[in-house]
Amino acid sequence: MSPHHIDSASRRRLLQFLAASPLFARGALAEGLRPSDPVDWAPRDPDKLIADPTQALDVFDFEPVMKKNVPPAHFGYMATGADDEVTLRANREGFRKFELRPRRLVDVSKIDISAEILGAKYDSPIVLAPTGSNRAFHADGEIAVAKAAKAGNHLQILSTVATTSIEDAIAARGAPVWFQLYTTQRWEVTEGLVKRAEAAGAPAIAVTLDVRSAAKWETFARLRRTDARDCGGCHGLTDYLSRKPNFTGIDLGGVSSTVVTNLTWDLIKRLRDTVKVRFVLKGILAFEDAKLAADAGIDAIVVSNHGGRVEDGVSATIDVLPEIIGAVGGRMPILVDSGFRRGSDIGKALALGAQAVCIALSVSQVSSVFLGSCAPRPAPPCSSLARRHSKTSRRRWSGERIASSRMLPEN
Ligand SMILES: Cc1cc2nc3c(=O)[nH]c(=O)nc-3n(C[C@H](O)[C@H](O)[C@H](O)COP(=O)(O)O)c2cc1C
Repeated sequence: MSPHHIDSASRRRLLQFLAASPLFARGALAEGLRPSDPVDWAPRDPDKLIADPTQALDVFDFEPVMKKNVPPAHFGYMATGADDEVTLRANREGFRKFELRPRRLVDVSKIDISAEILGAKYDSPIVLAPTGSNRAFHADGEIAVAKAAKAGNHLQILSTVATTSIEDAIAARGAPVWFQLYTTQRWEVTEGLVKRAEAAGAPAIAVTLDVRSAAKWETFARLRRTDARDCGGCHGLTDYLSRKPNFTGIDLGGVSSTVVTNLTWDLIKRLRDTVKVRFVLKGILAFEDAKLAADAGIDAIVVSNHGGRVEDGVSATIDVLPEIIGAVGGRMPILVDSGFRRGSDIGKALALGAQAVCIALSVSQVSSVFLGSCAPRPAPPCSSLARRHSKTSRRRWSGERIASSRMLPEN
């Protein structure tokens, strides 16, 4: 018997011994022979759902409630990533690669987490990202989100394919809301949307760049198969865009989807000359594009992979943020989204030099938590939860503004 055989025989005996040990009763073998770290004394129990959003310990508590409250197809629309959902997961895993280096002996009794974004002051650097079809999650849809944005004085970005018009969102927010623009394949439609948003008082147009083909949403497709309802009965299946309020009065002329294959720098320059308010690009991942955007006089960018929903296998946004910030060299503000769930995630992006962080998934999830409750409570508290976390985190790290304190080792 070779030494190799001796080794594997004793290893097998050790594994058998450990498998029988009560210490490893919790599937430790599957975990590579180690108890989970941190040790799982108070596991999250998916059967014990929070009854009220204020009971949430973190934003992860919302998703199982949403799964219970929302029809499978709608839940699938929210939860899905593209293809294997590698990027969806990478967005979360990316944060582990960055560690904070806190400074001590700084007075943290007064914390200021307010943020200025393109000249407007907000109570926090947490922005409510654009999400389509919010009425799939709660009857009040984007109006509820606008009221939450008002309650927390957050910047809200309204989606082109929102179930609320830009006029109604601004009225509910009681302050200007940015408009996220899907350009569509026809310039006349693009122009119509821009003019409408500007007339409504949107101070910025954020063009989404990354929807260049229909995403393969397998999670969505599988969950939709389990949904016994007639989807077409509620919202049609072929007239997706014409039912969205932001398109009312605009001749769609055969345009039926948000997929855009003709969006190039030429179109961006044409838009730059058309748009009278601030002009933002959402969906930048390459530092070369960020530099071109700054060169072209774009007002701001959102570093985003659409939460891993449109392309799989692309970088996590936190991974590319440092090189993008380096390439832009402070010439325009940089916002970032995709996978932000905790105050420490937000702190890392701000410490790297981002101006603000946008959140989407958690907002959609929390809206649905109110579905099951009797009292209508229009203010999704996930932004306040995240704000509370980022405030605590800031207190832990430093008394100075995160964005200027540069707590990462390389800074
Ligand atoms: C349900 C849902 C709908 C979305 N709809 C849009 C949209 O209409 N336009 C857009 O630019 N981005 C849309 N996004 C992407 C978000 O704006 C954002 O880039 C991304 O989801 C942020 O990551 P997070 O969900 O992990 O916070 C959507 C995201 C979700 C979860």
